[in-house]
Amino acid sequence: MVLACCALMLIGFGPPVWSADEDVLKPRVPPDQIEQARTWVNPFPATADNIEKGKALFHGKAFCVTCHGRDGTGLGDIPGLRGKLPRNFTDRVWQKTRTDGELFWILRNGSPGTDMAPFIPLVLTEEEAWQVLLYVRSFGRPSD
Ligand code: HEC
Repeated sequence: MVLACCALMLIGFGPPVWSADEDVLKPRVPPDQIEQARTWVNPFPATADNIEKGKALFHGKAFCVTCHGRDGTGLGDIPGLRGKLPRNFTDRVWQKTRTDGELFWILRNGSPGTDMAPFIPLVLTEEEAWQVLLYVRSFGRPSD
């Protein structure tokens, strides 16, 4: 009974969630890999200096900004984009749903079936990917 109730909440019959779209909360990492991905931990602490390095990559050579936007909301009208909209990183419900390891998996593999492509190793080293994720996480924090 308890299980059935939790399952219902997970598939969206629970209390309303503050997210643009419930689809974004569904895991992107395939079930057979997610447990392992969730064990990966960002080796860099979220210092101002490391976040700044991630920001430079996001706006620079990794061009994340072209889809996810300067403000991280990712909801812009992007010509030629197929499939799902780029993630809105200011969505704090989404931020809480994902572990750092799951986001790192996305940077390695892309999000299958969408325009979110793999960035490691062609564009980013693993170290740079962790730094860019510190910046992605910074969109989820209150600005004050
Ligand atoms: C060509 C456009 C495009 C570019 C460039 C791009 N993204 Fe994305 N990104 C997307 C789309 C579309 C999605 C939504 C995929 C989905 O819903 O599964 C997404 C989703 C994500 C997610 C969320 C995955 C999840 O688990 O919900 C992360 C994290 C992310 N992108 C990080 C980045 C970073 C970091 C960069 C730069 C290194 C980047 N993206 C560059 C289009 C892009």
